[in-house]
Amino acid sequence: MNPSDRQTHPLVRLRDYRAPAWRMERVDLSFDLDAEQTLVEARLELRQDPERPDAELRLDGSALDLLEIRLDGRDIGTDRYRIEADGLVVCGVRGSAILETRSRIRPIANTAMQGLYLSGALETGFLLSQCEAEGFRHITWSIDRPDVLAPYTVTLRADRERYPVLLAGGGREAAGELDDGRHWVRYVDPQPKPSYLFALVAGRLHSIEDAYTTAEGRRVRLAIWAEAAVLDRCRHAMDCLKAAFLWDEQTYGRSYRLDAFHIVATHDFTMGAMENTGLNIFNSKYLLADPLHATDDDFRHVLAVVGHEYFHNWTGNRVTCRDWFQLSLKEGLTVYREQEFESDLASRTLRRIEDVRSLWRTQFAEDAGPLAHPVRPDQYREINNFYTTTVYDKGAEIVRMLATLLGREGFRRGMDLYFERHDGSAVTVEDFLAALGDANALDLGCWLGWYRQAGTPVLEAHSHYDAERRCLELTLRQHTAATSGQSEKQPLPIPVALAFFDQRGNRLPLQCDDAERLRGDVLLLEEAEATFRFTNLDSSPVTSLLRGYSAPVRLVTSFDARGLAILASHETDGFNRWQAADAMARQAFAQLLAGERGGQPFLEAWICSLRASLAESAIEPATLAEMLTVADLAALAEPLAEIDPDAVFKARLTLETSLARALEPELLESYAALASASAEGTEPAAQARRRLRNRCLQLLCVVDRRHHVLAAAHYTRASCLSDRLGALTCIVHSAASAAPALLEEFAAAYRDDPTVMDKWFAVQATMPSAAALERVCELTGHPAFRWDNPNKVHALLLGLAHRNPIVFHRLDGEGYRFTAAAIRKLDAINPQVAARLATAFGGWQRMEPRRRAVMREEMRRLRTAENLSADVADILGRSLG
Ligand code: ARG
Ligand code: ZN
Repeated sequence: MNPSDRQTHPLVRLRDYRAPAWRMERVDLSFDLDAEQTLVEARLELRQDPERPDAELRLDGSALDLLEIRLDGRDIGTDRYRIEADGLVVCGVRGSAILETRSRIRPIANTAMQGLYLSGALETGFLLSQCEAEGFRHITWSIDRPDVLAPYTVTLRADRERYPVLLAGGGREAAGELDDGRHWVRYVDPQPKPSYLFALVAGRLHSIEDAYTTAEGRRVRLAIWAEAAVLDRCRHAMDCLKAAFLWDEQTYGRSYRLDAFHIVATHDFTMGAMENTGLNIFNSKYLLADPLHATDDDFRHVLAVVGHEYFHNWTGNRVTCRDWFQLSLKEGLTVYREQEFESDLASRTLRRIEDVRSLWRTQFAEDAGPLAHPVRPDQYREINNFYTTTVYDKGAEIVRMLATLLGREGFRRGMDLYFERHDGSAVTVEDFLAALGDANALDLGCWLGWYRQAGTPVLEAHSHYDAERRCLELTLRQHTAATSGQSEKQPLPIPVALAFFDQRGNRLPLQCDDAERLRGDVLLLEEAEATFRFTNLDSSPVTSLLRGYSAPVRLVTSFDARGLAILASHETDGFNRWQAADAMARQAFAQLLAGERGGQPFLEAWICSLRASLAESAIEPATLAEMLTVADLAALAEPLAEIDPDAVFKARLTLETSLARALEPELLESYAALASASAEGTEPAAQARRRLRNRCLQLLCVVDRRHHVLAAAHYTRASCLSDRLGALTCIVHSAASAAPALLEEFAAAYRDDPTVMDKWFAVQATMPSAAALERVCELTGHPAFRWDNPNKVHALLLGLAHRNPIVFHRLDGEGYRFTAAAIRKLDAINPQVAARLATAFGGWQRMEPRRRAVMREEMRRLRTAENLSADVADILGRSLG
């Protein structure tokens, strides 16, 4: 870790943005690569903004050992420059300059994984870089900001035996041999790019290759690089990559315009993956997949992430962000594109349900707590802490709303104009909205509110049916609660997709008095409150609101069990069918939590609908599996004003047990029927059947220990990891007596497989029992666990803190103390990961008073720790307020 980062960073504000006074017009880099010390020579052609002749020449750089510096070809003395904590200032330069530096970095010591670092062991591992957001300054001196774009020439030199493969973005221009067993390769990337998209990789890697001919007639060489042992697990990713090339051509008319596209897989990566131009780098968990070592979910995640990083080529790389406040301009938009890609190629309904579930449990919680921030934040101290669910997922929801508003063609017109106007430049959210608006002769100015305003809007809906007039009045009202630093909130444009059904589940006409406001089945609410009149309705309809989840709002309405039951059986929008079932379960949960005695209309209606759905042949198995999945503890707790985790756990258990008990025969029957229907294969239909079958098994294990035998057989007969892990999870999470032996067997079988072992750690970290804490503690000493590997930390420690509320929130405070100690330990290794872990404390204000006090105390103590990173200090500072 770099000591100069151990300080509070100054606040950076959007309103203080200024275009750069100096720009880099060319960047030439050469590296003498070695894990212990790498020498970096940089030659920058710099030009000053003539309007700002007094601006000094300042370069970003930190923890770089400067060996040589030359200005316009001449050595300069220490009187001409000064080195600061995070930069280098060269005095008295005007107009233009050529600056050459030579410096030394130590990849092996770079445990923070920003800049150039080592993946794997010193003798066998490989070198790779991560520059987003501000990693380039850990490699060399430069103007490290996204609005400075330059062409790059990169020469890599290294020992041929130790580093046979040398990769960088752009085209491979030349290569050769050097003395003493070394070799070199030169890459040229002529298309100007910001420094955060720079990448290099060096080591013993192997590749699978393929090619894609674009619609524009360019033959692109495709290569996926990994360790030799896992090479055949890259085939799925290669298929996904070609599918992504094709999809972007068919959907957006966007082709790839370089000759090569490389992807490299590493087990050592802080985030999911990175879209460096021509050289994507992936966390192995989002790249490697075969049925024996990856679950069905992993297969879909590979599809989604390969798509995501590829789509960044247009939304992120060719059109990039002016500054980091605009992060959602590339991330929200690219997540939306990724969602649509997966929806087109796999299951639309499943993807939507998963996205909305995670939005509710994670993004809504973020938006309701002290870490709430707008999709376009207006200030930050540590930008790495803003790669959040709000920027990514709420950002994607905004783009989705715009796409809904403009319609398929209108949105495509807008995107075409966006690319036409801004290809090759660094732009803002305003530019994006202007392009979408101009292409459709609309003023989308009010949509900026969604980017500027933090907090989840509450949408209240009330309806009144007038039998005499055969009409329904629907009143929609919106408000957003104050968030830290934003007390005043404006109404936002909210598209509400809706449908009416009669009591038998038939669709009824949708005729609105205010025809202007209804486009297709979408009503646009623009003000704080509005009433809409729908006519031609013979009876009081069942209203289905926010179909497809047309806006990221919290819907508040008077639910009735009968209406929801009708939607849960007849809604033709798969998402809202699921939403109706989920709403029944949540209503039942609320009654259980409140300890209400007597009739349980929602519980009964819910069970009844699910029984009917299980018997239905037409329903999509993946949707059914999701309907049978009770929201997790965090999702159920999220809407509560004050959270008592033990009470939430108890009510959820009662809910799930009631369902499983009531449907036991049907679940057994479905389980058996799905087995005989054979669930082999990795195509979406087979995946969906497996999903449903594993879901039935899970519910059966909840209801009766007898069924553990079934799970044990499921485990033994499993022919793929999805089934094996599904069975293992059932057995371990229901504390079956077979659990310890099976866990050992699993670990013995997959000992050498880091991605599968991550799942083994995660299963144990999420055990719904207070005793899981002692187990997790013990597991930190397991030979396969590593504090310096982000995936291991995610599986075990974030698994516990973020996905196991009954353990994290143990009343004796041990969950908090354990996590706080882990944060301190991790902070010395990888501050970004430590900061992620620290966000687990972000929900403290809504906990019941005893836990609230302990959480606050732990955060305060942590904050006084010596040498705390800026990353963790920022999270704690904002959390405590
Ligand atoms: N741009 C990457 C993506 O595709 C994420 C990189 C995040 N890196 C970081 N250090 N915060 O989403
Ligand atoms: Zn991204």
